[in-house]
Amino acid sequence: MNLILVCLSFSLIFPISHCALQKPPPLPILPIPTASQVQWQLSSMALFFHFGTNTFTDSEWGTGRVDPSVFNPTRLNTTQWVQVAKDSGFNRVILTAKHHDGFCLWPSEYTEYSVKSTSWRNGSGDVVKELSLAAKEAGVDLGLYLSPWDRHEGCYGKTLEYNEFYLGQMTELLTRYGEIKEVWLDGAKGEGEKDMEYFFDSWFSLIHQHQPGAIIFSDAGPDTRWIGDEAGVAGSTCWSLFNRSSAQIGNTDPIYSQGGDPSGHDWVPAECDVSIRPGWFWHASEVPKSAIKLLDIYYKSVGRNCLLLLNVPPNSSGLISDEDIQVLKEFSELRRSIFSDNLAGNAILNASSTRGSIGDSRFDPYNIFKEGIYTYWAPEENVSDWALHLNLQESVSFNVLQVQEPIYMGQRIMAFHLEVLNEDGDWRMVINGTTVGYQRLLHFPNVESQHLKFVIDKSRADPLISYLGIYMDQFSIVNSAFHRSSPANINSSQVLWQAIHNHSTTASI
Ligand SMILES: *[C@@H]1O[C@H](CO)[C@@H](O)[C@H](O)[C@H]1NC(C)=O
Ligand SMILES: *[C@@H]1O[C@H](CO)[C@@H](O)[C@H](O)[C@H]1NC(C)=O
Ligand SMILES: *[C@@H]1O[C@H](CO)[C@@H](O)[C@H](O)[C@H]1NC(C)=O
Ligand SMILES: *[C@@H]1O[C@H](CO)[C@@H](O)[C@H](O)[C@H]1NC(C)=O
Ligand SMILES: *[C@@H]1O[C@H](CO)[C@@H](O)[C@H](O)[C@H]1NC(C)=O
Ligand SMILES: *[C@@H]1O[C@H](CO)[C@@H](O)[C@H](O)[C@H]1NC(C)=O
Ligand SMILES: *[C@@H]1O[C@H](CO)[C@@H](O)[C@H](O)[C@H]1NC(C)=O
Ligand SMILES: *[C@@H]1O[C@H](CO)[C@@H](O)[C@H](O)[C@H]1NC(C)=O
Ligand SMILES: *[C@@H]1O[C@H](CO)[C@@H](O)[C@H](O)[C@H]1NC(C)=O
Repeated sequence: MNLILVCLSFSLIFPISHCALQKPPPLPILPIPTASQVQWQLSSMALFFHFGTNTFTDSEWGTGRVDPSVFNPTRLNTTQWVQVAKDSGFNRVILTAKHHDGFCLWPSEYTEYSVKSTSWRNGSGDVVKELSLAAKEAGVDLGLYLSPWDRHEGCYGKTLEYNEFYLGQMTELLTRYGEIKEVWLDGAKGEGEKDMEYFFDSWFSLIHQHQPGAIIFSDAGPDTRWIGDEAGVAGSTCWSLFNRSSAQIGNTDPIYSQGGDPSGHDWVPAECDVSIRPGWFWHASEVPKSAIKLLDIYYKSVGRNCLLLLNVPPNSSGLISDEDIQVLKEFSELRRSIFSDNLAGNAILNASSTRGSIGDSRFDPYNIFKEGIYTYWAPEENVSDWALHLNLQESVSFNVLQVQEPIYMGQRIMAFHLEVLNEDGDWRMVINGTTVGYQRLLHFPNVESQHLKFVIDKSRADPLISYLGIYMDQFSIVNSAFHRSSPANINSSQVLWQAIHNHSTTASI
């Protein structure tokens, strides 16, 4: 420490070329995420709870004129919601505190259209409070959705009054329930609805003032952006770089949202929202998607540098339905089964070059086998060939590639590919891609080889790799056959459990 200080002050007076005792890390390339954005990204997935009067009226967009007394979830248990989230690998939950119909799941002082006008808990209930306590108890992060569009409130359409009303409600939500990790602003608004201006700058500033750690979601950020579709699918090129000023809330260009912007000057990674069922609210007639379908969405969201926000709507009893719990369990089991064992984990590695001096573990290629993004391989600076050779020591079959960048250093990679050495001694390309970001997952037909070469073809700055894994996914294939015979997901559990069992027995041999 002292030496470095001496060296630093010395070099200020007498500039010298080699100062540091150790090669420091490369410079980050801007833009880079805030600490809250990194934490948000590390959580990978969140559960969305759409719940309110719509749950009881079999509707998606309530009119705002339904009698509040329809809201009567006799067995409401937010501990169950949070437990379901936690058990299936979701550490963040987001609740629609107020949807477009204007009904508030907490006793707001600015309207009567809320839980206080119902017989649920004799009008003294507060769903937001119950969920916040359950989430806190379980160590799960809480986010809240407060719809800007309000079909009940009389002052909707009067710009000043409604902005005051909205911020009044927002302040209640951000000051009564402890730490709020995300605030979700939906850009939706019905055709022909009254024209009015939302004071987004005031909203965002006030949210960050009350909850400095909160991530704000909207079509245009500031902290996370909508992916631009409700299928949960990101672009196969997906930058966290973006220009907030190039996106307009409520009127986005889906192509720009899905792909981000390689020359964007803001860090605004995307969130992929999708419902486990056809609708966002619970409907007795609807069934959840299959676990395999969720796995496919996972590849196209979490596997494309985004956070997956999966809606699992509580039913009219106030509980998550058994069918949904079953699918979530299977989804979690699938992920565990595929991703728990990196088939490249015992590989002998050599890198085209490595930053720093030989034996400096900070930039060592073997860092790519350490979980997480806080260690990485860095190549020597100013070279233009970037490759990692993996000798797996035996022939291995696989069909999934996982790559991660240490995003706190900026998103760098623009193009990469994977090659395998075939039996004739020729290198053959297996798969190529563009962006990586926090995490890229690519699924391709089975290949088998002992020697792999991961090559970065193009990068905004020296590419840094924090994780590389290969896996065998036997399920996506199993199900594509299964799906053809029963598209409605009647019950895939048995097939799935059998396949999982078969897979884990093979893997452990
Ligand atoms: C609520 O759900 C939790 C978790 O499933 C359960 O342990 C608890 O008994 C339930 N509470 C009530 C009152 O049913
Ligand atoms: C609700 O009110 C009724 C009638 O006033 C009372 O009998 C009942 O105990 C109350 N229930 C709760 C949960 O407070
Ligand atoms: C985003 O901003 C950068 C300048 O910071 C600019 O080069 C780029 O063209 C912008 N993107 C769009 C879509 O306007
Ligand atoms: C809601 O889900 C629970 C299981 O958690 C189930 O017992 C209950 O019957 C469901 N309610 C409705 C209305 O389907
Ligand atoms: C790395 O390994 C590959 C084969 O796996 C070999 O062709 C290459 O020469 C090796 N590079 C170095 C620098 O050892
Ligand atoms: C790398 O390139 C930059 C810019 O061209 C230059 O300033 C730097 O000295 C180079 N570093 C090395 C180690 O060659
Ligand atoms: C993959 O490689 C092919 C052949 O070189 C090229 O045409 C294609 O654009 C590449 N795709 C990506 C995503 O880089
Ligand atoms: C599906 O099958 C599993 C295993 O046989 C069973 O436990 C589960 O109850 C079934 N689920 C439905 C919704 O029928
Ligand atoms: C699991 O293995 C058994 C016995 O080898 C086989 O009959 C069955 O088809 C396999 N199931 C799946 C889903 O792969």
